[in-house]
Amino acid sequence: MAEHIKVLLTEEELSVKIQTIGEQISRDYAGKEVHLICVLKGGVFFMCELAKRITVPVSLDFMAVSSYGSGTKSGGVVKIVKDLDEPIKGKHVIVVEDIVDSGRTLSYLLEMLWARNPESMRLCTLLDKPDRRVVDVKVDYTGFKIPDEFVVGYGLDYGQKYRNLPYIGVVEFD
Ligand code: IMP
Ligand code: MG
Repeated sequence: MAEHIKVLLTEEELSVKIQTIGEQISRDYAGKEVHLICVLKGGVFFMCELAKRITVPVSLDFMAVSSYGSGTKSGGVVKIVKDLDEPIKGKHVIVVEDIVDSGRTLSYLLEMLWARNPESMRLCTLLDKPDRRVVDVKVDYTGFKIPDEFVVGYGLDYGQKYRNLPYIGVVEFD
């Protein structure tokens, strides 16, 4: 099936919003250090752009979980594919995600990370699809709330494609 991408959020809109979130985090964590945890692979573009706009000291780590196959529907299974390199005990952690959809991945992940005793932990997501929520997750920083449509770009993929698009688009099938 052929598909095309309709622009939903432009590069400029994303940049302005990420700047705002960066400033907010810098204010909220004044006098502290933040430890950003990127959920690979989707969160990586957002985390890099966000990290550049935070003015308090930042350290980074990465983890990968899988909850989706190659299509557009959740399998509901969460697996740790790559764990963090460093302990988070005593750190001010911000988990950086591309999108919160059903909330299954995040609720599992946050529970697991809380057990490692961070000093604090917040969740920051570029996109939120509230209509799709199955499990309640508290999101502390949200870029954009979007309708229930499958989106790609800025880290988000469809069958591993389109992550490199500098904007967010909706996948439409011809
Ligand atoms: P959740 O566990 O259902 O909240 O989904 C989490 C993961 O599903 C996200 O981190 C994405 O990797 C993926 N996902 C959810 N919605 C979309 C979408 O619209 N486009 C691409 N990936 C998505
Ligand atoms: Mg993700």
